Amino acid sequence: MTDTKPLHIGFIGTGWVADAHIDNFKQLPNCEITAVCSRKKARAEAKIREAGLSGAHAYSNIDKFLSHPGLDVVVICTPHPLHAAQTISAANAGKHIVIEKPVALNPADLKRMVAAVNKAGVKTSVCFELRWVGLFKNIKSVIEQGLIGPIFYAEASYYHGIGPWYGQWSWNIKKRIGGDALLTAGCHALDALIHLLDSRVVEVSAMSSTSKNNPLQYEYAPNSVAILKFENGAIGKVATSIECRQPYLFPVLIQGEHGTVWNDKLSTTKWPALKDWATLPADMPDSGDVADHPYHGQLEHFVDCIRSNKRPKNNLNNAAHTHEVIFAIDSAIKSKKTVRVKKTPGT
Ligand SMILES: NC(=O)c1ccc[n+]([C@@H]2O[C@H](COP(=O)([O-])OP(=O)(O)OC[C@H]3O[C@@H](n4cnc5c(N)ncnc54)[C@H](O)[C@@H]3O)[C@@H](O)[C@H]2O)c1
Repeated sequence: MTDTKPLHIGFIGTGWVADAHIDNFKQLPNCEITAVCSRKKARAEAKIREAGLSGAHAYSNIDKFLSHPGLDVVVICTPHPLHAAQTISAANAGKHIVIEKPVALNPADLKRMVAAVNKAGVKTSVCFELRWVGLFKNIKSVIEQGLIGPIFYAEASYYHGIGPWYGQWSWNIKKRIGGDALLTAGCHALDALIHLLDSRVVEVSAMSSTSKNNPLQYEYAPNSVAILKFENGAIGKVATSIECRQPYLFPVLIQGEHGTVWNDKLSTTKWPALKDWATLPADMPDSGDVADHPYHGQLEHFVDCIRSNKRPKNNLNNAAHTHEVIFAIDSAIKSKKTVRVKKTPGT
């Protein structure tokens, strides 16, 4: 049965991505933003004013924020290293949680988050919002209809220079905060492959690099490439560059026994008279601006799951796998060896 009582939403973090989530929650029926938490209360108050969230309360203390009367959902919009502890606190307080990516920077934090969320039985939505972009909906449908047949190869890349022209650059370049190129950004390309192939990655090999002069001053290698072996037998590749100087580019290529999908182009032997690539126009993953991200579909799905007591497709246990593969890729880069992907206990 669907519960239609208003959902009370609270935000932790008041930066760039919080604006996009606030805009999207404002468009969802019966969702009311009632609390905002920032390190400085004045910043939370400013966000409430700027975003026109009349009636919302400002907090600088997370425990007091989580005790806000009637709060149902917590949206975590802080830098990466804070996601684990904030998720655990929100789960222990019985809140449903939207968690920005990456959810964790190491396997130990991921394991603790999964345990807390599973114990509390709360619903989670990890921000792999590109699962809701038009292109990926079309590709998923093409695969499910058998138009390209059993898949044997897939690659996706995330090429998006993150420099001083982005607010997050100042903290994102630090190893302790940004993590690595895949955790901080390329995770979207890896998650796209796992989502589209609907198969876990079992084994990886990988390399990473930094350009000779490192003009964007990354403390970690801002470029990486990994070779993947999927459980269903397919092989694949995921590449990331966050120091490249070019417009945002997110190419996807998936090859099967009956055809190939290449971004919005399809070749298939199932359409006997097809002479060339067929174009399937769709919203594309073609912008690094959070205002263009398809968060609306992700949050609509989350709210629907809360109201009808279903499990969100992008819940923490599910999204944990993308992170497990990244941790294996990190080990493969360090060891220069092929590494098996380890499953997080509880997922
Ligand atoms: N899913 C996506 O496509 C996507 C896009 C952009 C950002 N993000 C993620 O969103 C998160 C935030 O990124 P952003 O671009 O909004 O960053 P930002 O720097 O604009 O905002 C970060 C916010 O966190 C606050 N903050 C920093 N340290 C804090 C602390 N110790 N305690 C509480 N608050 C603290 C800052 O004051 C700021 O309000 C990152 O994890 C990033 O990866 C995801």
